[in-house]
Amino acid sequence: MSGEVASNKNDKTLEPTILVIFGITGDLSSRYLLPALFHLIKDGMIHEETVILGVTRSSKTISEVFENVSFCGRDDHSVCDPETLERMKKHTQMFQMDLDKSDDYSTLHKRLDELENERGFCMNRIYYLSIPPLAYAPVIQHLGENKLNESCSHNVSKTRLLVEKPFGFNLESAEKLIKETSSVFSEEQIFRIDHYLAKETVQNILTFRFKNPIFEPLWNQQYIAGITISAFEEIGVLGRAAFYDPLGALRDFIQSHLIQIMAIVTMDKPKSFNTENIHISKQELMQHIEAVPGEKIAERTKRAQYIGYREEIDKPDSVTETYASILVYIDTPRWQGVPIRLVTGKSMNIRKTEVRMSFHGAEGQANNHLRFRIQPNEGIELDLLTKKPGYTEDVQSTKMDFTYDLHSPEHGYPDAYERVLVDAIKGDRTLFATSEEVLASWRVVQPVLDNWATHSDDLTEYEVGSKDLTEDIVK
Ligand code: BG6
Repeated sequence: MSGEVASNKNDKTLEPTILVIFGITGDLSSRYLLPALFHLIKDGMIHEETVILGVTRSSKTISEVFENVSFCGRDDHSVCDPETLERMKKHTQMFQMDLDKSDDYSTLHKRLDELENERGFCMNRIYYLSIPPLAYAPVIQHLGENKLNESCSHNVSKTRLLVEKPFGFNLESAEKLIKETSSVFSEEQIFRIDHYLAKETVQNILTFRFKNPIFEPLWNQQYIAGITISAFEEIGVLGRAAFYDPLGALRDFIQSHLIQIMAIVTMDKPKSFNTENIHISKQELMQHIEAVPGEKIAERTKRAQYIGYREEIDKPDSVTETYASILVYIDTPRWQGVPIRLVTGKSMNIRKTEVRMSFHGAEGQANNHLRFRIQPNEGIELDLLTKKPGYTEDVQSTKMDFTYDLHSPEHGYPDAYERVLVDAIKGDRTLFATSEEVLASWRVVQPVLDNWATHSDDLTEYEVGSKDLTEDIVK
């Protein structure tokens, strides 16, 4: 082996990689990861020597695994590209192992070495954990025992761990998981996915805020009356009961995605836009999000479950919330007293994720609103009052609307999981959550989780197709 890393013809930074997918047959892999890899292959983003190594306990073949994947979801015309599918099959190999058996990891190690030896150069190794969160710690320990955390002996290439949320089940288990993981992988090797951070429109919040200096002076409690960050889905749990029911909406969305988005919306300008400084700014902000105090939980939170959920998951006594709303504050002079509502729900009347900033209106007038439409119909809009055309002085509400034409072929923007994979291969950690950020977001929701765990009398029901169940504090 030469010890050199072969470079990609298209992009020098995309190095040849062995992407080991633990749980290749799972929902997450079929719904997001494999379609993302398909598109990266189609777009020529993946190095030609890249190997996708699908780990599974079963003896499924590649064709059997691919049978359940909708590869073309992103393409408007839904015409699958058979040539890309063939190439993807060539990139993919299966590896059958029992995740509980340490010996099987040693066999995996040999297989990775063989793949590199066959090619004659070191490759990046990425372990993607698409397995139940409770299995993370033992798998990580086995990877460590079998020295799978190390890079190729020449140390040119890198070995990384790509891990899906949730990182822990509460603050205590997150601390434990972080400790256990860091005994095997360094923080630089760990890529904790929050695929919302990788969404084009979430990244654009930073650009909008810091590249358009007209808004920054208004970005504080003097001008902003309140912020709502909402993520509504029309879909229910879609056969993911085993994953979803132990979590619920607060963990699944608010703790993992919405607090991150909130940090991006409210953090101070980073010293520079490099990974380190962006994380410093975010972490500083997150330290100041006040946890909902026990005596305010009834007033500031709401949870509910859609009717039919229990039958759907075949668990008549489930008290898991599929809708959650919490009101939080940031304890800094900039944000003092500004209510920030984080809300999410499944089986709602609409699929919509957005950030709505409400600016104080002039005496007796409605507030102005600035909306970041994260999905769908991605864009930014500002509600303004203008004079109604005609002889009167009446005013009307109008919108300044910027819609990204993200779906037009000439833009060809990457979807969130494509971006996640490309960044992990490149080693760019900007759009991934650090351990401090993960702990900070658990700290915010922990009192609510503790309170909710003791009773369920405040869990209400809602019809499938309902609209938001909580009134916005700021209209
Ligand atoms: C995941 C949640 O993180 O995000 C799911 O676990 C949810 O419950 C999904 O459906 C939504 O992501 P997207 O990108 O489809 O909006």
